[in-house]
Amino acid sequence: MSPEMSPELPPGNPPCRLSFDGRTIHARPGQSVGAALVAAGVVAWRTTRGEGRPRGLFCGIGVCYDCLITVDGHPDQRACLVPAADGMRLESGHAGGDADARER
Ligand code: FES
Repeated sequence: MSPEMSPELPPGNPPCRLSFDGRTIHARPGQSVGAALVAAGVVAWRTTRGEGRPRGLFCGIGVCYDCLITVDGHPDQRACLVPAADGMRLESGHAGGDADARER
C-alpha cells in the first residue's frame, strides 16, 4: 500500500519517511514521532533498566518521560514532543540519565 493510501496517516501534508530500527515508518510532517510510531503499531520502544519493562507513550504531553527514544543519534528525546521529519532515524533501546527514576 502506498504511503498516500495508508490508514495510519492522518489527512494533510504529504507523508515523510522515517526509519525505526531499520523499519520504514510513515508520518505527516509535524506529527510527533511518538504518534507516528503508535499509528504504525509500535507501542513500546524502550525498556526500563531495572526490570526491562516496556515503555512508549503514556502522557503524550512531555511530562512523564516514558517515551524516550534516540533520534538521529541523540538519545533520550521525548517522542511525544519531537516533530517527525523526512529522513529521521529513530532507535529503540534503554533510556539513559535518570529517566527510570521517574517511573510510576
Ligand atoms: S509520553 Fe510522557 S513525556 Fe512523552
